Amino acid sequence: MSFARLSGTGSYLPERVMTNAELEALVDTNDEWIRERTGIQQRHIVGDDETTCDIAEHAARRALTAAGRSPSDVDLIVFATTTPDRIFPATACLLQARLGIHGCTAFDVQAVCTGFVYALGIADRFIRTGGARCALVVGAETLSRIVDWTDRGTCVLFGDGAGAVVLEESKGAGIHSTHLHADGHYADLLHVPRDSTDDPAGNEMPGGYIRMKGNEVFRMATNTLGRIVDETLLANGLEKRDIDWLVPHQANIRIIAATARKLNLPLERVIVTVERHGNTSAASIPLALDVGIRDERIQRGDMVLLEAFGGGFTWGSALLTY
Ligand code: ACO
Repeated sequence: MSFARLSGTGSYLPERVMTNAELEALVDTNDEWIRERTGIQQRHIVGDDETTCDIAEHAARRALTAAGRSPSDVDLIVFATTTPDRIFPATACLLQARLGIHGCTAFDVQAVCTGFVYALGIADRFIRTGGARCALVVGAETLSRIVDWTDRGTCVLFGDGAGAVVLEESKGAGIHSTHLHADGHYADLLHVPRDSTDDPAGNEMPGGYIRMKGNEVFRMATNTLGRIVDETLLANGLEKRDIDWLVPHQANIRIIAATARKLNLPLERVIVTVERHGNTSAASIPLALDVGIRDERIQRGDMVLLEAFGGGFTWGSALLTY
């Protein structure tokens, strides 16, 4: 029986930093409100000619270097994004071409903020069943292009970024389990309508931008993430005390803290990066994982729990020994 083991991580944030103070000039908000309600201090924004594939390439190359692998070793690319460069081909194929790889399986996954956990779950299943030996799993977003910069309820929350991991076939345990869920009945609480005719409430609103009922999303996210923690521990016969590190989706410090409380984990055992880049959707978990591994808080042999919640609604978790 083969397992999928994490052999390298990489991440990238665009150069341009947008502070909370800059947002005060765009909408009726303030630094204190944003920090207090979300924990966010700044976000990174791509340049005009910078794409999701561009920032993903930086993260992917860093992950391959950390794994001691070259692009030609990769036989599977799973790319989680809500902001692909084109409607088609998949951004995974664009990245494959950038990396100079020919012929391997490459496709995108759309599960919004749970996208990276979905992608990891899919790559894990490929490796366990012998369909791949060395997978590049990417989460990258240019959310600044679908943020309504006149809506203070959402524009303060999101940012751009990319993260990637290399997963390799291994005899010893790496990923123990992944748990992937969705419930489309909640689609309208957090979505990007295609155009003004696409609003279920019948409002005339421009399409193409994030629309969210923040309060309801917050409530659902905290309840659902609590349940998925239980599901993951139960599936693996583990207790809360067996978890060394929580690497959550970085949406809001209050949601992160609620999940840590559920696990009886002090915040010192949680990798938190939301203050630096806001909610980067599918990129946020690999970004945080990369930070925790590079600064050597997460050590080989540690038990790490990843969890996410996002539009769909979708939610999921992954438990792994690093
Ligand atoms: N600046 C200042 N005031 C604001 C702002 C802002 N940016 N946004 C809202 N307010 C005001 C509201 O208008 C409201 O004012 P009122 O009381 O006069 O009506 C007041 O602040 C409180 O608003 P709430 O919406 O109740 O604030 P809340 O504490 O719920 O925080 C937030 C809002 C941060 C959006 C929160 O609901 C949240 O984090 N929700 C989850 C969002 C999320 O994580 N989404 C993504 C998850 S899924 C994914 O990652 C795609």
